[in-house]
Amino acid sequence: MQLLNVLIRNEHDGVLVPIPQYPLYSATIALLGGCLVPYYLNEESNWSLDVKDLRKQVIAARDKGINVRGLVFINPGNPTGQCLSTTNLQQLIDFCFAENLVLFADEVYQQNIYQDDRPFVSAKKVLKDLGSPYSESVELVSFHTVSKGFLGECGQRGGYFELTNIHPQVVEELYKVASISLSPNVTGQIMMGLMVSPPKPGDISYNEYIAESKAVMESLRRRAHIMTDGFNSCENVICNFTEGAMYSFPQIKLPPGAVSAAKSVGKAPDVFYCLKLLEATGISTVPGSGFGQKEGTFHLRTTILPAEKDMPEVMDKFQKFNTTFMAEYSDEKYVVTSKL
Ligand SMILES: Cc1ncc(COP(=O)(O)O)c(C=O)c1O
Repeated sequence: MQLLNVLIRNEHDGVLVPIPQYPLYSATIALLGGCLVPYYLNEESNWSLDVKDLRKQVIAARDKGINVRGLVFINPGNPTGQCLSTTNLQQLIDFCFAENLVLFADEVYQQNIYQDDRPFVSAKKVLKDLGSPYSESVELVSFHTVSKGFLGECGQRGGYFELTNIHPQVVEELYKVASISLSPNVTGQIMMGLMVSPPKPGDISYNEYIAESKAVMESLRRRAHIMTDGFNSCENVICNFTEGAMYSFPQIKLPPGAVSAAKSVGKAPDVFYCLKLLEATGISTVPGSGFGQKEGTFHLRTTILPAEKDMPEVMDKFQKFNTTFMAEYSDEKYVVTSKL
């Protein structure tokens, strides 16, 4: 928020934000009176980033008089769960260099990684490895928080941002603005201290720390598989593997009957599906429209956080619901009803 506040001066200032995105960005940009410039992640290639699309969106925004000043990316993604490749990160940095954009690297899920062949790579590492002229000129802000990873405990709040290549005068201004919040919570700061400086070998709690954090991460990794496999075993559902973060974002291919039935009760099709799912099973999910989705596609977002022992039952309930739903709304009668 503080960073975007410094960047956005008026409604002509634009920030590139991925679609689908975590609504924190759309809401903050709206609150600050700026302009969200969308760029679309590519679902067919595991929600990767398409630099051609980025370029297209910037040109379109500039044609409308928008002064594009920054680019946000979320890695690993929320709601999409992908980890960006080093090549994608290099392309992003190159793009920001060429277009003179501040790069906002939301890396709050950096510890939540569930596959070995796509590890988390920080934008700062890629920037430094690229060397001159990138490493000393691309302005980068990297974010992290204690609420994710394996530390996340309800109510414990703390986070930081790291500034690279930001002008010292801007840094001073940021300190001034941050100082308005006089009393940060103490336990949150302790958590943050523990996150950046965890127990070391030989420390009294080291073995317990390693065992507990490993157990949490391994369980999350198993849950990511159970959930993605569960979705992909359903009729009309396609789900990219949750490589990282805490979410699955399956696409639900709704039959025309479901789209018509939703319309007849004044609901968006994804909202209709999620409400029916909630009513039938008690499973609460978020319609994809809350995050942005390509026109004509429907998604839902769910976390991979249910207790591991409950996961098979949750997925079983989902599968049964989905089968019944697809059978019911494949019926022509719903399409006919909407035409009346
Ligand atoms: C992508 C992303 N960025 C930032 C945040 C904010 O984290 P916090 O509330 O711990 O500051 C979240 C929280 O869910 C998130 O998903």
